[in-house]
Amino acid sequence: MRVTVVSRSGREVIKGGVELGDSATVGDLQEVIYARTKKYYPSRQRLTLPVQPGSIGRPVILSSKKALRGYCDGNEDNLTVVFKDLGIQVSYRILFFWEYLGPLIIYPAFYYLPLYKYFGYEGERVIHPAQTYAMYYWCFHYFKRIMETFFIHRFSHATSPLSNVFRNCAYYWTFGAYIAYYVNHPLYTPVSDLQMKIGFAFGIVCQVANFYCHKLLRNLRGPEGSGGYQIPRGFLFNIVTCANYTTEIYQWVGFNIATQTVAGYVFNIVAAGIMTDWALGKHRRLKKLFDGKDGRPKYPRRWVILPPFL
Ligand SMILES: NC(=O)c1ccc[n+]([C@@H]2O[C@H](COP(=O)([O-])OP(=O)(O)OC[C@H]3O[C@@H](n4cnc5c(N)ncnc54)[C@H](OP(=O)(O)O)[C@@H]3O)[C@@H](O)[C@H]2O)c1
Repeated sequence: MRVTVVSRSGREVIKGGVELGDSATVGDLQEVIYARTKKYYPSRQRLTLPVQPGSIGRPVILSSKKALRGYCDGNEDNLTVVFKDLGIQVSYRILFFWEYLGPLIIYPAFYYLPLYKYFGYEGERVIHPAQTYAMYYWCFHYFKRIMETFFIHRFSHATSPLSNVFRNCAYYWTFGAYIAYYVNHPLYTPVSDLQMKIGFAFGIVCQVANFYCHKLLRNLRGPEGSGGYQIPRGFLFNIVTCANYTTEIYQWVGFNIATQTVAGYVFNIVAAGIMTDWALGKHRRLKKLFDGKDGRPKYPRRWVILPPFL
């Protein structure tokens, strides 16, 4: 069969098209595109079917494991696909590693190093127990996330655009510095001992619960990340779709009860907003995948992320 590969502006990406066998998969086509262009390796390519004039909705994305014939729709000899360059790709593990490494280094730097003299504070710094515990709590959290990235999560997406590394690092590193600056500040006023203990104890419980949620998610997939999306079950997943996000939000609430800074609460609200948006998408996807039709199980009634509100 002949496959014509065009860019979104209609320009031919491979001059004269590509000739492939009848049983060729989308993955085979991607390999040929890479061999011919020498630039666009498979994970950099997004192939879609052309959108018919006047039609609304998103274009169909070709799955690399599927046979090209499955996308032919009647004409078995010719297929046109639309190519998009997704840009330089990095693995999800690399992306997560870099975004978490920043806060893991920046926060202790504010605690240990005499940085505040560069902000005009020359005097001796008195370090409160709350600041010490906060530093350990913070480092434990980001160390845990790096460990989970490498040893727990079974990602389905192999790669992400390099530009996301810069975007995500900007988010995590800036917030890390913003919170570290205020919690370790020489003029920081700690909360009462009881409030600090309640905050950290609650936060640690939520971090352990968050780890357990990640273990449950891990068990939904095979070792190579195979198995697609399943209905998460057990523990808090019996009540909330994104129990891992719920426990993540609450562990930051615990940190903020114990340290009480505007910076910490701002981060908490922004992170909760981002995770709520993602949780709504994940909840919708699970409801669509498990619709109870044609033998598929029906997704049980659950809160999305923050019961009893959402
Ligand atoms: N503070 C913040 O701003 C913030 C923001 C986001 C996340 N986080 C933290 O980072 C953690 C990881 O974030 P994330 O967004 O990568 O989490 P996630 O997508 O909910 O899940 C983590 C892993 O489980 C897999 N998974 C999720 N639902 C699944 C299902 N129904 N069936 C099979 N596998 C499933 C995911 O696969 P896929 O590879 O297919 O997605 C991913 O590998 C969060 O749980 C949270 O603790 C913090």
